Amino acid sequence: MNETNLADRVSYFNESQTLEMAKKARELAAEGTKVINLSLGEPDFQTPPHIIESAKDAMDMGFTKYTPVAGFLDLREAISRKFKLENNLDYAPDQIVVSCGAKHSIMNVILSLINPGDEVIVPVPYWVSYSEMIKLASGIPVFVDSNVENNYKSKARDFEAVISDKTKMFLFSSPCNPSGTVYSKNELAEIAEMFSKYPNIYIVSDEIYEHINFVSKHESIGQFKSIADRVITVNGVAKAFAMTGWRIGYIGAPKFIAKACEKIQGQFTSGANSIAQKAALTAISTSLEPTKKMCHEFLNRRNLVIKRLGELEHVKANVPEGAFYVFPDFGYYIGKTIKGTHIGSTKDLCYYLLNQAHVSTVSGEAFGKKDCIRISYATSESELNEAFDKIKYALSGV
Ligand SMILES: Cc1ncc(COP(=O)(O)O)c(C=O)c1O
Repeated sequence: MNETNLADRVSYFNESQTLEMAKKARELAAEGTKVINLSLGEPDFQTPPHIIESAKDAMDMGFTKYTPVAGFLDLREAISRKFKLENNLDYAPDQIVVSCGAKHSIMNVILSLINPGDEVIVPVPYWVSYSEMIKLASGIPVFVDSNVENNYKSKARDFEAVISDKTKMFLFSSPCNPSGTVYSKNELAEIAEMFSKYPNIYIVSDEIYEHINFVSKHESIGQFKSIADRVITVNGVAKAFAMTGWRIGYIGAPKFIAKACEKIQGQFTSGANSIAQKAALTAISTSLEPTKKMCHEFLNRRNLVIKRLGELEHVKANVPEGAFYVFPDFGYYIGKTIKGTHIGSTKDLCYYLLNQAHVSTVSGEAFGKKDCIRISYATSESELNEAFDKIKYALSGV
């Protein structure tokens, strides 16, 4: 009995590198070392108290049983209203499916639409799980590269260039994890116009960082009527309301896709947690003030991180417009030896920074850019300053 008995599909995809780095950081911390964790994808804030109270009330009121597979109707109605009011999107409650996090929502959509050999266009850099989820469904990710000089943005014509008769889906996030890049309304309009010529391609728009936007009002690609009937909009409460552990995400989708996701989820999870759904209803239906405060704090930290990155030699950094990550290019350091350690890749560099500076980051390889590192600034300004002091020292003398 050993791992050769495992099903082939387990080897089709890689373990999440963000979770792997977080695990390594925890191991080092367990040995008594103070580690500053800049590898995590979650706000360091606490869920606002009125949301926590509503979860307690939900338990007291007996919402402790199975829920409808697609989610409580009142929650789906609230999401439908939110989509209309905040995003100018028309999804009726029966076009909405609530799942165990946006990650689960995306997996449901991919499993509903992707047949073996179908191609999915994914802008680079991409969130780690997109490529692995596509592979798990035996689909083929088709990557469209970008770089720090153009702020990690691709144009509609770049996506059009890789369309083939196998293309089934376009999957992207704006604001983007890992780059923080935000597509403007005009840029999204151009992408929508291009895809309007290809009626067999579905567009999956991951908007989980909607409320962490430093430059403008959030724009959804589904607002453009020429493609609206084949846009699946993904969102959730994890990032906007500091609710990562509650595991609630959702989609708005064409009805037949929503039905397919509901069918799949009905056999996998029977729906999302009842108490967390009630908390999500409160989050979505009450004031966005706590979210705005968090966003303001992230903006201050973004500014600090950009300033501190500017002090590092040979590092090219983008200026993120949303989310809470920055994705600088550390390509200069690849192939160099720093204080006796040979750096063959950014993964080596991340390990070096973890061991030398006790700061955990994630290599860009997992996000499709081998010269970059993802730095999360979801931590206090004092920790960020301490982390950059240590990184600066660790990289000196190359
Ligand atoms: C781009 C993107 N989409 C989706 C998710 C998953 O969100 P959730 O915690 O709701 O599953 C994340 C989490 O890091 C993310 O960065």
